[in-house]
Amino acid sequence: MFRFAPILAGLTVLAAMLSAVLARDESRLPAPRSQAVVESLAGTCTSRPDYLGTASCTSSSCHHKSEHRRVVGSEFVTWNSEDPHRKAFDTLYSIRSERMVRNLYGPDAASASKTVACLTCHATGEGQLSKASTSFSLVDAVSCESCHGPAQPWLAAHTRGGFKELDAATKERDFGLWNTKDLARRAQVCSACHVGNPDVPLMQVNHDLIAAGHPRLNFEFSSALAKYPAHWRMADEHARTPDHAWRSWQVGQIAVATAAVRLTEARARRSADGAPWPEFAEQDCFSCHKNLTVDSDRVAYRTPTTAGRAPWQTWYTGALDLADSEAYNTLASLKTHMGKPAPDAATTATRARKALEGLTRRIAYATDREPWTTAQELEASTRIARFSSVNAEKLTWEQQAQQFLALAALRDDLRRRQGQIEAGYELPYLTVRDSLLGQFPNGYDSPRSDPNEMRATRDRQLLLKRLQDGLDGIARSQP
Ligand code: HEC
Ligand code: HEC
Ligand code: HEC
Ligand code: HEC
Repeated sequence: MFRFAPILAGLTVLAAMLSAVLARDESRLPAPRSQAVVESLAGTCTSRPDYLGTASCTSSSCHHKSEHRRVVGSEFVTWNSEDPHRKAFDTLYSIRSERMVRNLYGPDAASASKTVACLTCHATGEGQLSKASTSFSLVDAVSCESCHGPAQPWLAAHTRGGFKELDAATKERDFGLWNTKDLARRAQVCSACHVGNPDVPLMQVNHDLIAAGHPRLNFEFSSALAKYPAHWRMADEHARTPDHAWRSWQVGQIAVATAAVRLTEARARRSADGAPWPEFAEQDCFSCHKNLTVDSDRVAYRTPTTAGRAPWQTWYTGALDLADSEAYNTLASLKTHMGKPAPDAATTATRARKALEGLTRRIAYATDREPWTTAQELEASTRIARFSSVNAEKLTWEQQAQQFLALAALRDDLRRRQGQIEAGYELPYLTVRDSLLGQFPNGYDSPRSDPNEMRATRDRQLLLKRLQDGLDGIARSQP
């Protein structure tokens, strides 16, 4: 697709520079935005444009300094050439997307690229042009302002002297530049699209969307980060957080569970206004989706007492107890309730709100605790690996995949501490991640409802074992 980005970039940068020059006369930085607006992930509708578009970031003196990827100053090049978000808008032109909107809205449905229910996550600024300036383009898909916040309040300020020296929390509080340095905040930013955000209408992938053809979302923060082509210096991350991979995993588990429970709460509450309840996307898919074969896996493996129930899914909480048992315990009563045949919406909402209080406390703990030492990480890896193998037969695919990712995060830290890898997961482990999360049987978005796919297959046991062997090797080589 032909793009006007360079011309627009030039114009917008001129405008940005002009406003920066004008603003220099002021003795201080612009007035802080109202707290509420800054805190709201979604941003709110204002008459001023909030989203200025990628073109406002891509001047050659700013984030497009060279044509080389992964170097400081060329964040645009990294994003434009390797970021999976670059193609999020193009995806809406695919046959799959077009079919999805027809399934949802009928044969006369508008194109997915014009459908708010898709743009909320596949474009920047929820795809709402009313909030965007003329330099903004939907074609820029999920771009800078999706993760760093709408640029209007901070664009001019962030190029001025004194701004760089402010700490990241102040930059968010006073200017609305989201604090992506804070892992909990970062996980919250990603979760808005990768889990869902009840503050923005239609920002969720519910069972209607899945049944229409959307892939089910399986977000895990630390492995998503490891897979994401970073346009920042990983060395800075490791300096800030010595146990970076493990803390990302732990903070991510709690943050992602928080996002999931917020959705549960909102869905239950809004069912009074006609939203579907129980929302099937919250529940274990394979409780309902089965083949009527003689040897169905329920008949073969499950006790009849579980028939007729669709328990709460185990993706978002499948390994939370290993991350932080206190966080997990705050969910106990909600989980029990959601496991009932027809969970009452009002009770669900109340219990979800209670759980959210606990999760908020635990996320603060996981963010602020002392960094773990090598010995602590080795101990945790032994514990998790043992738990996984002892319970392998009882675990769902979701739980096993989550535990594998926990072990992979620990291994990542341990190997880096030994100087064996620079940053990010190693390739073999990314391949394993993909085989757990992505490479399902041909034509499938998930494992099959088949005992051999669902349960701990020998392949999966082997993966866990290989990972454990790697960890043992690290333990042996410790002084
Ligand atoms: C505005 C919504 C939005 C935000 C915010 C967002 N993503 Fe995404 N992300 C998407 C969409 C949509 C896709 C799918 C793109 C496609 O293929 O069309 C995606 C795809 C990805 C992928 C590739 C798919 C996969 O699982 O391998 C990764 C990795 C990823 N995102 C990581 C992140 C991380 C890490 C963050 C936070 C720092 C984040 N995303 C924030 C919407 C978002
Ligand atoms: C809550 C946010 C959200 C909404 C709403 C949403 N999507 Fe997505 N979509 C995602 C994310 C995140 C992914 C990437 C999933 C992954 O790979 O983990 C994705 C993936 C996809 C894919 C698969 C992409 C690929 O490369 O395989 C298609 C197709 C798609 N979305 C189309 C749509 C359409 C059409 C709509 C509107 C009817 C829509 N999406 C609404 C977040 C969303
Ligand atoms: C999917 C989310 C996401 C998108 C899209 C994104 N960023 Fe980032 N960006 C991050 C995260 C996470 C960090 C690392 C934490 C940090 O340094 O703030 C980061 C870091 C940065 C940094 C380094 C900040 C520092 O203090 O070292 C710059 C500069 C930056 N991004 C600019 C951009 C630009 C320009 C774009 C668009 C071309 C963009 N980002 C798109 C998530 C994103
Ligand atoms: C409580 C039972 C229940 C649960 C739980 C459930 N579904 Fe469904 N699902 C259904 C029913 C019933 C239909 C058929 C709807 C129709 O035909 O109108 C359906 C339809 C679908 C379809 C459309 C294609 C087809 O096979 O019919 C997909 C895809 C799907 N569900 C995926 C999922 C996923 C993924 C999950 C878990 C996140 C899930 N479902 C959870 C009951 C359920």
